[in-house]
Amino acid sequence: MTQAPQPVRLADYSPFGYLIDSVELFFTLDPTATRVKSRIKFRPNPEATDPRFFLHGEQLTLISAAIDGAPVSPDVTEYGLTCPVPNAPFVWEAEVEINPQGNTALEGLYMSNGMYCTQCEAEGFRKITFYPDRPDVMAPFTVHIDSDLPVKLSNGNPEASDGSLWNDPWPKPAYLFALVAGDLVAHSDHFTTASGKPVDLNIWVRAGDEDKCAYAMDALKRSMKWDEEEYGREYDLDVFNIVAVDDFNMGAMENKGLNIFNSKYVLASPETATDRDYAFIEAIVAHEYFHNWTGNRITCRDWFQLCLKEGLTVFRDQQFSGDMRSEPVERIGNVLQLRARQFREDAGPLAHNVRPETYIEINNFYTATVYEKGAEVIGMLRTYLGADLYRAGCELYFERHDGEACTIEDWLSCFEEIAATDLSQFKRWYSQAGTPKVSATWTRDGDTLRMTLSQQVPPTPGQPMKEPAKIPVSMGLLAGDGTEILPSTLIDLDSPSVDLNFDLAELAGGKAPDHVVPSLLRGFSAPVILDAPLSTQDRALLLAHDTDPFNRWEAGRSLLREMLLEEICARDISAAAEARRRLVWQALKDFCADASLDPAFVALVLTFPSEDDLTQATVDAGVVPDPVLISDVRTEHMRALGSWMQDTLMDFYNAVDPDTPYSPDAASAGKRALRNTALSLLSNPDNLDLARAQFDGATNMTDQLAALSVLIRDGDRTAAKAFEEQWQHDRLVMDKWFMISVASAPANEALNAAAALSQHPLFDWQNPNRFRSLMGGLVANPAAFHDPSGAGYTFVTDWLLKMDSANPQTAARMSTAFETWRRYDADRQGMMATALDRMAATPDLSRDLGEMVARMRA
Ligand code: PHE
Ligand code: ZN
Repeated sequence: MTQAPQPVRLADYSPFGYLIDSVELFFTLDPTATRVKSRIKFRPNPEATDPRFFLHGEQLTLISAAIDGAPVSPDVTEYGLTCPVPNAPFVWEAEVEINPQGNTALEGLYMSNGMYCTQCEAEGFRKITFYPDRPDVMAPFTVHIDSDLPVKLSNGNPEASDGSLWNDPWPKPAYLFALVAGDLVAHSDHFTTASGKPVDLNIWVRAGDEDKCAYAMDALKRSMKWDEEEYGREYDLDVFNIVAVDDFNMGAMENKGLNIFNSKYVLASPETATDRDYAFIEAIVAHEYFHNWTGNRITCRDWFQLCLKEGLTVFRDQQFSGDMRSEPVERIGNVLQLRARQFREDAGPLAHNVRPETYIEINNFYTATVYEKGAEVIGMLRTYLGADLYRAGCELYFERHDGEACTIEDWLSCFEEIAATDLSQFKRWYSQAGTPKVSATWTRDGDTLRMTLSQQVPPTPGQPMKEPAKIPVSMGLLAGDGTEILPSTLIDLDSPSVDLNFDLAELAGGKAPDHVVPSLLRGFSAPVILDAPLSTQDRALLLAHDTDPFNRWEAGRSLLREMLLEEICARDISAAAEARRRLVWQALKDFCADASLDPAFVALVLTFPSEDDLTQATVDAGVVPDPVLISDVRTEHMRALGSWMQDTLMDFYNAVDPDTPYSPDAASAGKRALRNTALSLLSNPDNLDLARAQFDGATNMTDQLAALSVLIRDGDRTAAKAFEEQWQHDRLVMDKWFMISVASAPANEALNAAAALSQHPLFDWQNPNRFRSLMGGLVANPAAFHDPSGAGYTFVTDWLLKMDSANPQTAARMSTAFETWRRYDADRQGMMATALDRMAATPDLSRDLGEMVARMRA
């Protein structure tokens, strides 16, 4: 009988009893019997009170151990070992044996297509050797690799030309350790830092893939330069290596000097990667590179501080993408993601703080809340302080804490000091879960506009009561003729409500306008849900005239959403609704007439809210969502708008010459995005000629996949087959095919498609990308996943349980498909709860999935 897993608590932190002066590791690689020898110089930590010598270690066979050369017999359990040690500096030596081939969890040392690689964050190093596997124990590492494989890599600088010896001079926690060995080829380049230091850059891939690395390499060089210019951060080793692996649980990993990437975020060619893939590659290469300072040189004291490195690094990569591409388009994309993933998480049973205070399995906390909301919190800090004080605070942080393992308090103190301000209320963003709701109301009193902004932070699991958050609300005012009479102004909503008075005559410089429209939360200045009583006409005015591009898009989006909701919620199907529908259509058409707009931006405005967005909006409107109805209404409205706007959309479609040579830059991608958005709106089961022609003639994956998605959606059965034949040799392209074959399929066919694909010879389920493509494809088709029969729930549950026995981390992450179960009707709730309970009752369920299921059912 195994004991129930115990929670770890932030409040229980205490430092490790020993410091480490150096770590030396010797690997003798073998697929099933790799030997790892360690030689570690420990000394008592004067700052610690607990002298227990506990080294983490899991799934290790201990061969021998010695202290100062004398053999010892430690007390070994399933989780690690303890051993009496001298109360003075000593040298610990151990030898263990591990089985990389048998490692299907992809954590620790494992094999992927004949190549050895590692993944240690968060707690994987303990599967490599016995060690204090916690981020506050930092040490310089030397690594010896004995293997016949031609390429051998580890952290830091090479000390032997054959890759058998590596030295990383920068002290680091074990989670940043990495080792790779395989038959790899490099795409190489160079970078010279601002202070003139040369750096060798290599991207290591399998032979045949070396021509797909140019974009990632370019993104890396731009990231290095950008971090020098924007944050004053230079690279600090002689080499920077990136390795692409096919089997990887996450996107990528920032191991010091040796980033390891999921190959889908490295490899790109116009024929095989979409514009979206290129954008992700750029962002993730930047993200991992930026971790060199925010994460590696300064790391986290404990895993509760995860947002210290992740929120900040996401914020940095978002700034970078905004500078490289269109800032408003990037901002809208980030907010779409935040709402789709983080708001969803925050509204359900998995809601947690940006800095959690307790966990059972830390792998379950690499979440949208820690990452994306964590990034929003940094953005708000910068909004409050201004760019200059923000930069100065960052400089202080880098200077003061270089080489340390820090907390959120350390980070915030730097800004309190630089700006001479008190951030204690702001800090609630780290300790209160739930998405705050900001309500705005206003009345006209003569020439005065009286406005009240109020806030409410909803209860979340374990947090029934909330204190007022500090919310930066950026706002402007537009007159009824569309002129801006109040440019962006920052309101500090730091109490339950704030009253504002605007003298409209003064603002307008003369006569007060008859009608004014507030433009609130410009640029999405805070991660909140805004409730403002804007009429359809007001929204149309903002779509046409707002000077803030984010709010222009937001106005268009809310017009579409409200139009769809009227029907989904059966609120009003009268003539008034028909009139409003015409107003929305006309507003969109007028918007489209502005030829000066960025096509990428227009594409975003014309993109309908997702089915999941509409589901949440339905719940917010107090109506039980019917996934099938939502899907049908959305499709019907897309077709109706598409045919009403046919001429405009055809003009957009024809504005791009599909034979222009492919370039991944944002401007070219934006043109393709608009063309493909138009294609999606113009096509329907009776009108697929355009899509067929595009599919047949496509010379890049963006256009080919966009056409395929439309064809699958509208019932064409031949294109998917042709695509499969064309691309069956290419893993990354086939991942797209698995995904889209289910995600885009009509709801009544998607379940059968998923079942058939799970038997496909290329459904290599233990590969996380492939598994996520198929399961994620079904979950992305809510009308199919939530099929009234419950078959979608059963299918996903069966596969989650199967995956859990091989790779708990990947199973647990996918289980969030069930986090919204309380949204639905009693039948669906019952079936989803039954699915969760079936998982909970499964013998040998992992700690990862066990914790997720328990939280979802709590
Ligand atoms: N630290 C990685 C990142 O955000 C994510 C990651 C976490 C990768 C855990 C692997 C395992 O860049
Ligand atoms: Zn990260």
